[in-house]
Amino acid sequence: MYLPSSLLFLASLPLGMAAGKGKGNGPKTGLHALAKRAGLKYFGSATDSPGQRERAGYEDSYAQYDEIMWKSGEFGLTTPTNGQKWLFVEPERGVFNFTEGDIVTDLAQKHGLTQRCHALVWHSQLAPWVEETEWTPEELRQVIVDHITEVAGYYKGKCYAWDVVNEALNEDGTYRESVFYNVLGEEYIKLAFETAAKVDPHAKLYYNDYNLESPSAKTKGAQRIVKMLKDAGIRIDGVGLQAHLIAESHPTLDEHIAAIKGFTKLGVEVALTELDIRLQTPANATNLAQQKEAYKNVVGACVQVCGCIGVEVWDFYDPFSWVPAVFPGEGAALLWFEDFSKHPAYDGIVEALTNRTTGGGKGKGKANLWKA
Ligand code: XIL
Repeated sequence: MYLPSSLLFLASLPLGMAAGKGKGNGPKTGLHALAKRAGLKYFGSATDSPGQRERAGYEDSYAQYDEIMWKSGEFGLTTPTNGQKWLFVEPERGVFNFTEGDIVTDLAQKHGLTQRCHALVWHSQLAPWVEETEWTPEELRQVIVDHITEVAGYYKGKCYAWDVVNEALNEDGTYRESVFYNVLGEEYIKLAFETAAKVDPHAKLYYNDYNLESPSAKTKGAQRIVKMLKDAGIRIDGVGLQAHLIAESHPTLDEHIAAIKGFTKLGVEVALTELDIRLQTPANATNLAQQKEAYKNVVGACVQVCGCIGVEVWDFYDPFSWVPAVFPGEGAALLWFEDFSKHPAYDGIVEALTNRTTGGGKGKGKANLWKA
């Protein structure tokens, strides 16, 4: 039987190293290792609790899924896609439940992945009691402080970063009319960051939103938030670009670079926090090629801008994506198809991380800041 020499080489390596997960030396292959070599701190994938939501009914896939998620070395960081949200962690006032969030935290710890935590103050997946009560400003301030104190306190030391405020902006850069904004105005953002900074002094504190990946009125709005906090002497460390993009109409590399620099020049780091690139289903050669280009652009931009520190996909396995339920007719947004074969976009990311098409070789040489 003919074996290519690369396979013979792999077969001769001690077990574990061939799989790219030699303990002690860290993974040698996979997206995370490539990302670190490119100067990023991580390449990660968010994940949900087994049996819940999009994962329900796919139990037969779990063994293969877990192998990639936790053991392959592809990912060095994770986030619970749902388990730390207000609806689950404080379903009633003062009643805290970390059962779901802990499932992902425990797996991350067991397998040596770092965690980004998500999300403390958000209008969506909010517990009904917060929205249904008529608050005085004083009462709602207390609600926010109590929530952040408990949740960020519980996870203290386990989060590289927290999305402190999520999706506070409308597309035109004005503030979204959430219960928080309606009662407190922009003060709620200051209060949230101020409280998080006190509770977890070591977690990076992020503002996180979608449609911040190319310059727009909304990116100006997010810059305004960064400046507002800094002017008030309140700590903000990062802006998360969710990066829920569209294969058929995606930003250029230069647009991504301009948007990212618009934040880093304000003295905050940037991360791609929920990357997925949906397409009109069924997938075909054309839109998969567009998707590959789109992934390559956005990851390539992050590699090229000093201050863009990491990339996380919002899960990696198409059946577990939130996209089809929210955008009818669209899907196949992630990197592994239902049969566990990889999208062409996987190679696009590898190209971006190895600088084959982004004209650089400008390693940022700051992987040493990781877990600082
Ligand atoms: C999504 C989850 O992936 C779904 O399982 C859930 O039903 C809805 O929320 N922006 C965010 C994420 O900040 O929290 C959202 O996650 C996707 C959009």
